[in-house]
Amino acid sequence: MGISEHKTTMETVLSGIRSTGNLHLGNYYGALRNFIRMQHENNCFFFIADYHSLTTLPDPNCLHANVKSVLCEYLAAGIDPNVATIYVQSDVKEVIELYLMLNMHAYLGELAKTTSFKEKARKQPENVNAGLLTYPTLMAADILLHNADKVPVGKDQEQHLEMTRKFARRFNNFYGVEFFKEPQAYNFGEELIKIPGLDGSGKMGKSEGNCVYLCDEPKVIEKKVKKALTDGGPTSMNSVKPECIENLFTILKVVSAPDTYDYFNEKWNSCEIRYGDLKKQLAEDIIKVTSPIRERYLEISNDEAYLHKVVTEGAEKARESALKTIIPVREIMGFKSF
Ligand code: TRP
Repeated sequence: MGISEHKTTMETVLSGIRSTGNLHLGNYYGALRNFIRMQHENNCFFFIADYHSLTTLPDPNCLHANVKSVLCEYLAAGIDPNVATIYVQSDVKEVIELYLMLNMHAYLGELAKTTSFKEKARKQPENVNAGLLTYPTLMAADILLHNADKVPVGKDQEQHLEMTRKFARRFNNFYGVEFFKEPQAYNFGEELIKIPGLDGSGKMGKSEGNCVYLCDEPKVIEKKVKKALTDGGPTSMNSVKPECIENLFTILKVVSAPDTYDYFNEKWNSCEIRYGDLKKQLAEDIIKVTSPIRERYLEISNDEAYLHKVVTEGAEKARESALKTIIPVREIMGFKSF
């Protein structure tokens, strides 16, 4: 296969989510919902990043179950395996080869100053492994393996995308080729989204314990939202919202209708807001989004034959696409067979 054949007419979209537990509203609005909105107009690859989950040394007895839950959540949320390619990262070994090659062009200094690396190194000082350091090169390998144009991700991944572009440019410059494209983070022309947690600060995250999961039962969601941090209420008209209240409004904005948002915003501005009402509405609207997903999830997760079919077919399609990259890359770098 020659370098010139490395082109398709439709734009290629690629994204993945690490299999480190159930998906939450942050994953949904940051990534998953956009996967579904993009699948019909693009050549899409959505994968489950199980190699990436290894950076935190997960229990081997849980690894497979975690891959399975993300797979079921992808399908339950509406990714159609007849339209998009769904695969498990570790089923496409070519990514490891590209990761190794890209690592030869990635520098310690730039990897060590990545925000996600610094954060993880602070959180797990007993295990600052090389996989954590080279997390961005593995992510770049995921993206460049399919020469993706667009990568739907949340705001926290912006820096990794920037590094992917840098690695792509560096490869092209070093070998004097126009091979890799520079992929762009994508959110339909809107700003990249960050969904906050219910604990008053920061983003919703599995390790922060502040999540609403897509598969939470309605009762659990009501309870979590009820317990969300609030303050004593506004003391003057049109005041700036403190972070914990702003966060609830941010979630309201994505899950509720615009007039619901406006209604509570006016109540805030006129100091008539009742947090109990706001939380009740918020929980109700979250449940409207999550319950159909939860119901399909329960069905799909019992259908082992279907899941097997989805991942085997997905792996086949993903490998076919991966070979279109890895074969020319070997050639460009000088590998020849005897
Ligand atoms: N780093 C991403 C996250 O934590 C997951 C991921 C791995 C990814 N490889 C990717 C996302 C490639 C987009 C493209 O959410």
